[in-house]
Amino acid sequence: MAESLRHPFLQGLSKHRGAPPTVVVIFGASGDLTARKLIPAVYNLAHDNLLPADFYLVGYGRKPIPDDEFRTLATDAIKEFSRREMSPEVWARIAPRTSYVAGGYDDKPAFDRLAAHIADIEKKIGREVQVLFYISTPPSVFAPILLNLGASGLAGKHLGKSHHAKVIIEKPFGKDLTSARELNVTIRSVFEEYQVYRIDHYLGKETVQDLLVQRFANAIFEPLWNRNFIDSVQITVAEEVGVGTRGGYYEQSGCLRDMIQNHTMQLLALTAMEPPVSMDAEAVRDEKVKVLKAIQPLVLGPNGDVARAQYAAGMMAGKSVPGYLQEGGIAPESGTETYAAIRLSINNWRWQGVPFYLRSGKRMARRVSEIAINFKRPPGTLFSKDGGFDLAANTLSFQIQPDEGLSLIVNTKIPGLETRTQPVKMSFRYATTFGSNTPEAYERLVLDAMIGDGTLFIRGDEAETSWGLYTPVLDHWKAEGRKGMDSYAAGSWGPPSGDALLMKSGHQWRQP
Ligand SMILES: NC(=O)c1ccc[n+]([C@@H]2O[C@H](COP(=O)([O-])OP(=O)(O)OC[C@H]3O[C@@H](n4cnc5c(N)ncnc54)[C@H](OP(=O)(O)O)[C@@H]3O)[C@@H](O)[C@H]2O)c1
Repeated sequence: MAESLRHPFLQGLSKHRGAPPTVVVIFGASGDLTARKLIPAVYNLAHDNLLPADFYLVGYGRKPIPDDEFRTLATDAIKEFSRREMSPEVWARIAPRTSYVAGGYDDKPAFDRLAAHIADIEKKIGREVQVLFYISTPPSVFAPILLNLGASGLAGKHLGKSHHAKVIIEKPFGKDLTSARELNVTIRSVFEEYQVYRIDHYLGKETVQDLLVQRFANAIFEPLWNRNFIDSVQITVAEEVGVGTRGGYYEQSGCLRDMIQNHTMQLLALTAMEPPVSMDAEAVRDEKVKVLKAIQPLVLGPNGDVARAQYAAGMMAGKSVPGYLQEGGIAPESGTETYAAIRLSINNWRWQGVPFYLRSGKRMARRVSEIAINFKRPPGTLFSKDGGFDLAANTLSFQIQPDEGLSLIVNTKIPGLETRTQPVKMSFRYATTFGSNTPEAYERLVLDAMIGDGTLFIRGDEAETSWGLYTPVLDHWKAEGRKGMDSYAAGSWGPPSGDALLMKSGHQWRQP
């Protein structure tokens, strides 16, 4: 549904300066994400004068926290986690409009108190506000929060008028297809889809958004972006950290749920989708869903399309680290994977025959997220030794983190009398060209939700399509227990079974 939130005087100005009067309510406001990301995002938006003049922040949670104490927690969070130093002048604009409501997530009278609190704010400023509910709690309480937003009338607030309630939901959106569908049914019993903003913070990253600009704002890439010129695509989301103190949580999740099903699939969808008819949220998300639906079911079992492994003890930065099974909170016979690699086939005109390889893991050699587009090798007739294929294939890679940027590997003549070639890397780095203090993903996403732009959020059908692909894998692994579970040394690039997945087609993983 189109929104008409913008004042006529704002027409022609950046859409990001047109947010209507807003109350942001954070559920789970005493939590880690609120302190590390959400409060600093609000602060930096205030710093950039991107918040509406009538902006209010309300924390909500079970723990009783007086308003003053919540403001102190928020100040501490900004000092510790904001990308900019805390400016007392900027904070002074938000602090008096920051408050806290204590209550349970299944406590309807507490939601009525929240509704009364919001009504008081409206009375004070003499106008209606839109309310943006940010559900930043563990998933076990997503449903009671949503249902109480419905029961207390908060979700339907101002529905149909220019301002209305919206909800941001943090991942995980279910743990398999059935639970994802159930969650969507609950969400839609209370909110219309256009009110819902499912966050995958990867979509807020500059390089991820740049992928669409590179693809569709440059004439040189799109004509080559297909099976005639591209040999394979590799998407890597590698972490250096192990499970640390989050073993209990990770045992219920694993790499496929934690990383592959969401972040890497978002990267894949943006890489592989057709050009949308516009940058409108529905046009972009329609194309993402279309390409996800063209992915072939995965072949399971030996010689199939998936590999999984757990990290074993190894060396990281000169220190020895324990293996997954030795970490706290991990079952001795755990069947939870800390690494997964997948080979995907997309059955459409653009991509048939081009393998897409995805991998993600903990305790890998280096923290890096990248998309590498490997072009077909040039014919070796002129420059390569004996007409063989030792010219490098051109590779275009988008580095999403760290050190965001873009690079292209091209073959070049080595200076000298003989014609010898060497692949060289042409690089563009965001930090070098634009400076390093770029907005954090959460700043962009919170602001987009405030102004009603859902382009960088996941639609319900997108989440379900992705779960539909991976649920058979999860079921298969569960049935197999530890059978087929490979291992890799902490600090390495993954297990032999991950390499074997590519070797079958004559490929190998890049070392990003
Ligand atoms: N932290 C991150 O970097 C990160 C990144 C991506 C996604 N996420 C997602 O964001 C959400 C919030 O993450 P978080 O790390 O902030 O979570 P958290 O710190 O574990 O929990 C947030 C708040 O929720 C309430 N809570 C915790 N456990 C609960 C339970 N079992 N039942 C009911 N309420 C409970 C607590 O507040 P009260 O006790 O006051 O109610 C807690 O302060 C999660 O869905 C997570 O998956 C987090």
